[in-house]
Amino acid sequence: MKIAIVGTGYVGLVTGTCFSEMGVNVTCVDVVTSKIENLNKGIIPIYEPGLEDMIHRNYDAGRLKFTTSLVSCLDDVEVIFSAVGTPPDEDGSADLRYVLEVARTIGQNMNKYVLVVTKSTVPVGTAQKVKAAIQEELDKRHVKIEFDVASNPEFLKEGDAIDDFMKPDRVVVGIESDRAKSIMERLYKPFMMNNYRLIFTDIPSAEMIKYAANSMLATRISFMNDIANLCELVGADVNMVRKGIGSDSRIGSKFLYPGCGYGGSCFPKDVKALIKTAEKNGYNMRVLEAVEKVNELQKNILFDKVSTFFNGELVGKRVALWGLAFKPETDDMREAPALVLIDKLTSAGIIVKVYDPVAMDECKRRVGDLVEYATDMYDAVLDVDALLLITEWKEFRVPSWGVLKKTMKYPLVIDGRNIYDKKELSELGFHYSCIGK
Ligand code: UDX
Repeated sequence: MKIAIVGTGYVGLVTGTCFSEMGVNVTCVDVVTSKIENLNKGIIPIYEPGLEDMIHRNYDAGRLKFTTSLVSCLDDVEVIFSAVGTPPDEDGSADLRYVLEVARTIGQNMNKYVLVVTKSTVPVGTAQKVKAAIQEELDKRHVKIEFDVASNPEFLKEGDAIDDFMKPDRVVVGIESDRAKSIMERLYKPFMMNNYRLIFTDIPSAEMIKYAANSMLATRISFMNDIANLCELVGADVNMVRKGIGSDSRIGSKFLYPGCGYGGSCFPKDVKALIKTAEKNGYNMRVLEAVEKVNELQKNILFDKVSTFFNGELVGKRVALWGLAFKPETDDMREAPALVLIDKLTSAGIIVKVYDPVAMDECKRRVGDLVEYATDMYDAVLDVDALLLITEWKEFRVPSWGVLKKTMKYPLVIDGRNIYDKKELSELGFHYSCIGK
């Protein structure tokens, strides 16, 4: 089978690479020439565990190709996945410019049947817009060529993307024809060997499932952050509460970890977009509005703790940040709590020194010399008044507390991800604060 993937961002690159790993012939397309040139030289634009090796292996085997020209591969492929960006526009709605541009290019140049699958997260109704755009272009050419559209939302998590794609909990496909259904069945069959997890729905439901899933997960996090903040006030321990409620099989133990707010490219954007979709349909998503508000406030929580500890006397204090990416195993800083924190700390006159195992360049790109950049995690804490743990990278889990105690000016540790043991740190002479206990 031959397919094309348009958009070599996170989703497109992982999707294309994983399909090629299963023996599918994949052409990845992107309009950014430098990106494609780099990929053809073996330079990968994102950090994702396991991805680089898989790209090289399939590229060398001739199953994975990179090009800037969608038109050049149109006659050759049966399926085109559209995985281009849908950035929020000013009001938080998803901007469909790129999605519709791809549809129009297909309509202007196709010469035979093709199945056009939208993989980008797009609002309900987008597949119909894609269909209309293709048809409009075909009509302009006065040709009659059959095609189908489908919606196949992506649920992969950054950092676990390869595993999520190769062993999905489920694959959701919205279709409106038997032909499209059988093509998608053929394509996904190798991923479904042990367990049948291919769910076919109508197209609007498939489009809705992605937003509903991400919004539900974001809701769990904001709910737990609210519970954690209340735990602090009433003297309860949110870790115990989390275990207690998570062992109810109706609730489940995953995604109940409080912290300094969710970030990333999906939750914040999708929650906003769903609120907007509702608004446009005359409905108010009351729960999601609260979810968003709680998350915004939660991103301030580590700053508030620093401020309270030092009674607001912050000017000239030095603070180290461990972790910048919005979560471990990625260099992605989109909507990262670290960005809010850097802004608040530096605005209050605090000198900030940062360290992250992979997101240092990304941070330099975003905040430049607003902060100091450490050479390693221990360099970051030299002479600081406080250490703030923001991203729970594995290398931060068991630090040499003895070294920290000697090198920090003041032994204050504020743990934004609840990974350290309060009793242990208190015994070692640290002042320790975390979320929800
Ligand atoms: C998410 C969805 O999980 C995925 O299915 C979808 O396709 C894209 O969005 P991702 O953004 O990669 O994936 O990250 P995820 O691991 O889900 O974490 C999102 C944010 O929630 C992170 O900032 C993380 O720190 C935070 N989080 C997660 C919590 O604060 N507590 C938790 O219990 C879980």
